[in-house]
Amino acid sequence: MDFKEKIRSIKDYPKEGITFRDITTLLKDGEAFREAIDAMKDLVKDEAIDKVVGIEARGFILGAPLAYDLGVGFVPIRKPGKLPADTHSAEYELEYGSDTVEMHVDAIEKGEKVLIVDDLLATGGTGSAAVEICKNAGADVIGCLVLIELDGLNGRDKMPVPVYSLMEFPA
Ligand code: PRP
Ligand code: MG
Repeated sequence: MDFKEKIRSIKDYPKEGITFRDITTLLKDGEAFREAIDAMKDLVKDEAIDKVVGIEARGFILGAPLAYDLGVGFVPIRKPGKLPADTHSAEYELEYGSDTVEMHVDAIEKGEKVLIVDDLLATGGTGSAAVEICKNAGADVIGCLVLIELDGLNGRDKMPVPVYSLMEFPA
């Protein structure tokens, strides 16, 4: 299946000069959604994985079915103030200012092999904050798996772990 064909590109959204890669057109197609999850799983088939860590919000949509399929636990990394128990946090830079992500302190055991999942890698800011938070929890981060990688933003170079992506688009 040509997964790229299932992604809708919206010019000048959310602002001029940006082309938004919209995954909802893939998600609403049952066959494409299932095949995309299967193909993402195939990219990491040689890795031992104890837990999948999904990044709020779109990383949940892909990470949860993948964890279910692998038969491993799913851990959410969330935006600030959403998790009720003790958390680790990591900050990352945005174009203007910074943002924070959080994960429960008891979500991962020391030495567990963790796969981070998100829909898209752009600058790598979110992904590298996710790696940092998992490493602080003592995880062995085996990689970051995304549906879409944007070229030309050097996100992959910023990531301290291997990046697996199903498709690439120009930024
Ligand atoms: C988007 C996307 C990735 C991140 C990628 O999430 O889903 O998580 O940005 O960008 P980066 O590599 O430059 O950090 P967003 O923060 O827009 O929120 P959402 O997933 O909750 O929609
Ligand atoms: Mg996101």
